[in-house]
Amino acid sequence: MEYHQLSPFPKDRLSNRVNTMWRYQEMLPVQNLQNVVSLGEGMTPVFPLKNIGSKYGFDQLWIKDEGLNPTGSFKARGISAAVSRAKELGVQACVIPTAGNAGGAMSAYCTTAGIKSTVVMPSHTPKAFQDECRFYGSELILVDGLIDSCGEIAAQIAEETGAFNMSTLKEPYRLEGKKTMGFEIAEQMNWELPDVIVYPTGGGTGLIGIWKAFAEMVDLGWVTDTHFPRMIVVQSSNCAPMVDFINGNKAYAPYGESKANGLAVPKAFGQDLIKQVVQESKGAAIAVDEESILQSALELSREEGISISPEGGATWAGLQDLVRSGTISKNEKVLLINTGNASKYIENLL
Ligand SMILES: Cc1ncc(COP(=O)(O)O)c(C=O)c1O
Repeated sequence: MEYHQLSPFPKDRLSNRVNTMWRYQEMLPVQNLQNVVSLGEGMTPVFPLKNIGSKYGFDQLWIKDEGLNPTGSFKARGISAAVSRAKELGVQACVIPTAGNAGGAMSAYCTTAGIKSTVVMPSHTPKAFQDECRFYGSELILVDGLIDSCGEIAAQIAEETGAFNMSTLKEPYRLEGKKTMGFEIAEQMNWELPDVIVYPTGGGTGLIGIWKAFAEMVDLGWVTDTHFPRMIVVQSSNCAPMVDFINGNKAYAPYGESKANGLAVPKAFGQDLIKQVVQESKGAAIAVDEESILQSALELSREEGISISPEGGATWAGLQDLVRSGTISKNEKVLLINTGNASKYIENLL
């Protein structure tokens, strides 16, 4: 992928900076830092999965726990960047289609920024996701359908009311916030990137953002080794359009609901970029069934004491399949991304 050249920025300037994603402020889209809308997002821990690792014979199995972000998911990063920029641009109202987590995050960040927010969400989303939006004072519109139907309604609301449409990759700022996961992975792993990153993919902004950060780190002079991790897309076999798109077939169609609601994106707007990341990184795309997603989330939570969302569980299920097929070896340094915590999904998990 090609990105604009960045001016060199010595990474030792990062020490003593704020312990949020805004420590990378020069690489984020806000011009005046007074407009930053932050609830403490980012710098989530990266640590080895000792119990699961030794039980299954992995030498270097790691996790980044994004469930510890405000509102319980990595969505806080993209929304912090986008709401900050919206505030800077004088936006009065925002609208978002969501599978759940992004809606909760936008509700919280818009509230603190004094911006009106409208969230459009599938009606089958667990109630905790719906209540979270109401709790922060958003208008919530429930739709019978998946996130693509919500996207059409959000676009219509934006058109009719002039609200800023925060739909994935239809504005440029959420990606910038999410790329901070890539900077953090490098900084927290002492600038030695893992061999493999396993990412639960819906709309793909997280995956694309991490890859963007790696390219930027080369421009910035933060890393010299361009042997970047293989990026693994994991989806639910109930909704695996990216697995089909990357593998060039329709093995999983038609695409429906998933208990890992963040993965239920029947057509990703950024599908070409997602495919490019997988291909450039020599990664892979894999679908795992619903039962193994839920069982894997429970197993990881119970072995490690971490609150793992179904999406996070999908990464563990996907990794085991890829080890069985020989695509990943147990000696490699593997990083799972737990994109959210389990609390809002408890009705799906127990
Ligand atoms: C917990 C969780 N994981 C993963 C995803 C998918 O994220 P992305 O759009 O970056 O592929 C979502 C999106 O809703 C999510 O909420």
